Amino acid sequence: MRIAVLGSGGREHALAWRLGAETGDPVFVMPGNAGTPHTLEVRGTDPHTLAAVCLEHQVDLLVVGPEAPLAAGLADVLTARGLRVFGPSAAAARLESSKAWAKDFMRRHGVATARYSVAHGVREAATLAGDGRVVLKYDGLAGGKGVVVCGSRADVDAGLSRLARAHGEEARIVVEERLEGDEVSLVGITDGHDMVLLPPCQDHKALLDGDLGPNTGGMGAFTPVPGCGPRVVDEAVRRVVAPTLAGLAAEGLPFRGALYFGLMITAEGPSLLEYNVRFGDPETEAVLPALKGSLLDLVLAASDGELGRVAPAGLSMAPDQGLTLVDVVLAAEGYPDRPRTGAPIEGLEIPDGGDCRVFHGGTRRDGAVVRVAGGRVLHVVASGPDVASARMRAADRIREIHFDGMHFRSDIGLRRWSSGPGAP
Ligand code: AMP
Ligand code: GLY
Repeated sequence: MRIAVLGSGGREHALAWRLGAETGDPVFVMPGNAGTPHTLEVRGTDPHTLAAVCLEHQVDLLVVGPEAPLAAGLADVLTARGLRVFGPSAAAARLESSKAWAKDFMRRHGVATARYSVAHGVREAATLAGDGRVVLKYDGLAGGKGVVVCGSRADVDAGLSRLARAHGEEARIVVEERLEGDEVSLVGITDGHDMVLLPPCQDHKALLDGDLGPNTGGMGAFTPVPGCGPRVVDEAVRRVVAPTLAGLAAEGLPFRGALYFGLMITAEGPSLLEYNVRFGDPETEAVLPALKGSLLDLVLAASDGELGRVAPAGLSMAPDQGLTLVDVVLAAEGYPDRPRTGAPIEGLEIPDGGDCRVFHGGTRRDGAVVRVAGGRVLHVVASGPDVASARMRAADRIREIHFDGMHFRSDIGLRRWSSGPGAP
């Protein structure tokens, strides 16, 4: 079977590695990076061009990494041409591509989420923002840069100016109640009816240790999440996951792919902050090495709309018991604003081991040299019987790697569970 993964980051490297390890065949990445030896050239990003590449190379299954091609209708085009694809229809991808549509969907189907209003333009948003303890969300896809968490009126004014500069005065903006609690990323593989949940994971979005500094695409992740045990997951299923699946079915929205629930575990229980219509990044890199069972079987069954046949609803794919994983992102100088590319990377010749592997993100090959080509350059993923040993293993591997301007958080995995039902 010829499998291809669309994308070029650490998530796609991890997916290709895992699926390749299961099948024993090369998995092709489109366009991939210096860590993915088998790549297919991508000559454009529109769905028809991508479909042509899949047909030309006789791809039997395309696993789509990022959200933008899905929002542009890639899964619809591939399905219409008889190709098997893991990724939702454009109609269902609105769960990520429009925050306002997603919030209305949550409300229609009783999904637990923060109270909100949709403002048409920044002036209306300013009025709706009240005392300023709100979260402002630009309605469209913004690469993780469309959300401003505010604590005061001054934050609201600054946030709205930024959103107006980026998206115009008339931009639609969701103004949402700000929730307190612990954030957890929960991802399910689904065919739109049944779902298999992967182990919960926690992302570290801020640039600097102690969750300080600007937001990034994610500086690291770890799993399991202390405090987010089976009881909290069951509650999340009841309050968020099950009503979402019921809503997709009721509205006839085709969803065969990975559905990501960005949850806040509040004192009242899990509440949904956002959907993503794809696997998380950097969560995927931390979760995939620990999965038991066959990821490929689930992906194929979901793509064929037959997940219920391989896995009864509600079943979780168990991680290796007793194993903690941390994913530490090594970022380029200037990331997240203006990452500097081009620096040569040293230390990559050391082979991966069972308890530590390096997934490439923003890298490219230049003859015999691997160079920095993007903001999140490498993911060092290490495992151990507890957080301390996994962190130590990651630190040992990081010491062997060098590029000019390399920086990373030194506290991945140390975040404490503060509130909610799992609090100590
Ligand atoms: P989103 O893209 O909607 O996940 O928002 C990005 C980040 O903003 C989340 O990971 C949270 O840290 C934060 N956030 C979003 N919505 C809320 C909310 N209602 N209350 C508190 N924080 C939020
Ligand atoms: N880690 C957050 C995301 O994948 O969007």
